[in-house]
Amino acid sequence: MSKSSIVILAAGHGTRMKSEVPKALHPLAGKPLVQYAVEMAVQLISEKPLLVVGHGADQMRRAVGDQVIYVEQREQLGTGHALLQARPLLEGRSETVSACYADMPFLSADTLRRLLELREERNTPIAMLTVEADDPMGFGRILRDEAGQVVGIVEEAVATDAQKEIRELNCGVYCFDGDWLWPHLAQLPLNPKDEYYLTDLVAVAVAEGQTVEALTISDVTEVLGINDRSHLAQAEAVMRQRINDRWMLEGVTLLDPALVFIHVTVEIGQDTVIYPNTYLQGATAIGCQCRLGPNTIVRDSTIGNGCTIEASVVEGAVLEDGADVGPFSHLRQGAHLAKGVHVGNFGEVKNSFLGPGTKMGHFSYLGDTTVGREVNIGAGTITCNYDGNRKHPTVIEDGAFIGSDTMLVAPVRVGAGAKIGAGSVVTHDVPPGSVAYGVPARVRGKVEEE
Ligand code: UD1
Ligand code: CA
Repeated sequence: MSKSSIVILAAGHGTRMKSEVPKALHPLAGKPLVQYAVEMAVQLISEKPLLVVGHGADQMRRAVGDQVIYVEQREQLGTGHALLQARPLLEGRSETVSACYADMPFLSADTLRRLLELREERNTPIAMLTVEADDPMGFGRILRDEAGQVVGIVEEAVATDAQKEIRELNCGVYCFDGDWLWPHLAQLPLNPKDEYYLTDLVAVAVAEGQTVEALTISDVTEVLGINDRSHLAQAEAVMRQRINDRWMLEGVTLLDPALVFIHVTVEIGQDTVIYPNTYLQGATAIGCQCRLGPNTIVRDSTIGNGCTIEASVVEGAVLEDGADVGPFSHLRQGAHLAKGVHVGNFGEVKNSFLGPGTKMGHFSYLGDTTVGREVNIGAGTITCNYDGNRKHPTVIEDGAFIGSDTMLVAPVRVGAGAKIGAGSVVTHDVPPGSVAYGVPARVRGKVEEE
């Protein structure tokens, strides 16, 4: 029998989001909401948490993968019914069952640990988390008797006006004694809203003469529950500030943190300076001493040390140390700039490698291209890589010089040290060390030694 299991409830429609996407998959700082609960659970106990899915179950499975054990709630009959679906997997196997909701991204493993400890210490069937807050946020209200003991939770939808005034709220985080939980959960009455509310278990325990323990916290943000898009924006703001504060403490300069948007998945090196209106997203790692922005997006990219990206969009790309991009350039999937590469303004690079020291200053497009070292790509050079059906590769070898406004009609190769005259349309391979120009380009001689 394992000691402790965690069940995350995520089967609900999330009706208030008004969305085709299940609520738990809406992104927060670049990760789906549910991922925060899953990571919190994994941090606390080594065994996989259970995830109750229902609405959008297939999407949920695809997004969360094998981090959890799935339990299906076929009909969404309420939070009590959702937890009950885990019974076959946990009854008789888990001494303690914790339950939380997938829409609470800020709940810390430490708080849940304290709740587990409280339940164990007092040996009660239920320990639950409550919060004192000025704004009731639509949460269930905690009912206590004159002695101050918890006697029930009343949902806002069915609360009296007097109950609505209560400012101790149910966070939606519970630890249960496993043996007690399952038979009682199965007998929960249907509430007036035709749902089985997990919260009604508290009154059930109290009616039996049991004591329900509450751990009351004061930080409302930790238990923000995201029910609609306005909550989501609120959570995004809190998360963003935390992420930005963390990077500033790690030695990253944010000129105006209110205007920098960094996903929780991003890593940044010391002494990097980030200008306003910069978005760092997805699986992105930024080195030390970089300068990013203003007006820049870096997504799913790896940026070395000492790189500069100004007013540009960089996605699925790799920049080695000292590379610089922009202003106004676009690096797309598979762009790889080696050390010290310069991509100036209005450049686009897709699925291409540019060797060390290569320069592409102005108005060029390189697609499916392998460029050697110290190559000069003249202004307005275009790889014509697409013939309407297929993409073809271009190779430009070390030290080549491509004159301005050259069209490289792929598949084509420009040999090492070759020179292409301005305005050429290169349709055939150009041998190393030769000079070619014209439309179509012809080889006209050898490059003269200087
Ligand atoms: C719930 C609590 C409320 C508490 C609040 C804190 C109940 C009845 N109410 O209300 O006391 O103050 O959270 O945030 O528990 N779910 C299922 N299956 C269902 C219904 C819901 O899996 O049939 C899941 C949802 O996906 C969600 C979670 O349970 O992750 C909570 O449901 P939600 O509708 O958000 O409950 P609240 O109204 O916020
Ligand atoms: Ca909720």
